[in-house]
Amino acid sequence: MKQTTLADIRLIDVPEVHDKRGSLVVIENDTFAFNIERVYYLYDVPTGSKRGGHAHRQLYQLLIPLSGSFDVYLSDGISERTFFLNKPNKALLIVPGIWREISNFSSGSVCLVIASSKYDENDYIRDYDLFLKSKI
Ligand code: TYD
Repeated sequence: MKQTTLADIRLIDVPEVHDKRGSLVVIENDTFAFNIERVYYLYDVPTGSKRGGHAHRQLYQLLIPLSGSFDVYLSDGISERTFFLNKPNKALLIVPGIWREISNFSSGSVCLVIASSKYDENDYIRDYDLFLKSKI
């Protein structure tokens, strides 16, 4: 985890099937670089609300804006970058050891999260100073 940086972050095209009836996105267990153990989504996020505010020790996650848009701020403790997600066929891969904050949710937006492990509070680093120490 200490070695991960923003250079490990990827914006990935998800496989899709288009025809005149619309678009269909397919995600299977071997579509991404990790085994899928959990899927959850954020919706009904009130205007101005922020999510995230933590890093993970081991967890890989993919964020996909199924509907609407939001900003994903990422920091590796040295560099920072904000991704504006608004395309349901683009997935943001967040590796372990990256601080994230999600904000500016548009009205009605839905953020799908695909994760490599089951929920484990011990995998979270919720204190930014502890996060910085973990990167030394
Ligand atoms: P958290 O991961 O902090 O949300 P976000 O990063 O979107 O702001 O989780 C918020 C709450 O939900 C926290 O009390 C833990 C709980 N939770 C689960 O019980 N299971 C889960 O899979 C997740 C992601 C969260």
